[in-house]
Amino acid sequence: MKAIVYTKYGTPDVLELKEIDKPIPKDDEVLIKVFAVSLNDWDCGLLQGDPINRLLNGLFKPKIKILGSDIAGRVEAVGKNVKKLQPGDEVFGDLSGRWGGFAEYVCASENMLALKLASMTFEEAAAIPQAAMLAIQGLLDKGKIQSGQKLLINGAGGGVGTFAVQIAKLFGVEVTGVDSSAKLEMLRSMGFDHVIDYTKEDFTKNGQRYDLILDVKTNRSILDYIRALRPNGIYVTVGGSMIRLLQALFLGPAISMISKKKVGIVALKPNKDLAYMNELFEAGTVKPVIDGPYSLDEVPNTFRLFGEGAHKGKVVITVQT
Ligand SMILES: NC(=O)c1ccc[n+]([C@@H]2O[C@H](COP(=O)([O-])OP(=O)(O)OC[C@H]3O[C@@H](n4cnc5c(N)ncnc54)[C@H](OP(=O)(O)O)[C@@H]3O)[C@@H](O)[C@H]2O)c1
Repeated sequence: MKAIVYTKYGTPDVLELKEIDKPIPKDDEVLIKVFAVSLNDWDCGLLQGDPINRLLNGLFKPKIKILGSDIAGRVEAVGKNVKKLQPGDEVFGDLSGRWGGFAEYVCASENMLALKLASMTFEEAAAIPQAAMLAIQGLLDKGKIQSGQKLLINGAGGGVGTFAVQIAKLFGVEVTGVDSSAKLEMLRSMGFDHVIDYTKEDFTKNGQRYDLILDVKTNRSILDYIRALRPNGIYVTVGGSMIRLLQALFLGPAISMISKKKVGIVALKPNKDLAYMNELFEAGTVKPVIDGPYSLDEVPNTFRLFGEGAHKGKVVITVQT
């Protein structure tokens, strides 16, 4: 089978399209023919080999050599202990921890997979898992979003932000999106009520206050974010600068003690809300925003595009048709 393989940490130049053996499912796994996969920030961290990802995937060289977590495909074979899935089922899910999605076939535990709706393309399905889960768990589980609120999404034009605005609109909230100039038109067309160009304006200093802030970049002091909240507001981070995340972790409890404001940090629960996403998709209320689709041999370029922040929504790769 064809796969994008890396044997050392580095830039996208170390990614190679290779012909390798098809994987064989263990007793509790299924073999999936991959039709589409999407790219996540986590893939970029694993490619570069930052210190945390080296702890996960090998200190000196990568143990798992095929990246790609968010896949959509068809079950080809099942191990003898698999109970829920059978050959022919169309599935999607986040295989983070297992990875292997930038390949024509991958094996995964059935617990990592949900059935794909017939009305959903493989590309749409592959766009959903990580970004939509972060958006849902950030807005609903940590953010306790309520109708009539004012929400700000920092880093609005990527995977999480483009799902988050659509989900937030179901709750009747007023949404402001912060991103770079090139993405503001797309944000307006998606239904953001207000947009802010972060290269020209600092939303923590313009006097506006929000009930909820969902942050995918976390590049400022937690105290700046707290200042931009209304009295009972909640700041939720899904990721960003490690130093800033640690600051949010340690100062968050103290902030809640001395004010009515709260700080939430999303620890991704992979695949938890895929059934909810199926419902929203079926109702026509949430639709993935896809950059691409690209082909498997374009994967190194998609990493470059992602690294430059030049993508809009989710970068999706069609692996085979
Ligand atoms: N909590 C967890 O368990 C968990 C698990 C997996 C991933 N994550 C995190 O989830 C996040 C993934 O988000 P995503 O997929 O939406 O990322 P994304 O697609 O890269 O989107 C980020 C957006 O932010 C914009 N941006 C860059 N710098 C900015 C700034 N200073 N201010 C405002 N916007 C800025 C980027 O555009 P420009 O570059 O054009 O500005 C881009 O549109 C990452 O932070 C990742 O680490 C968390």
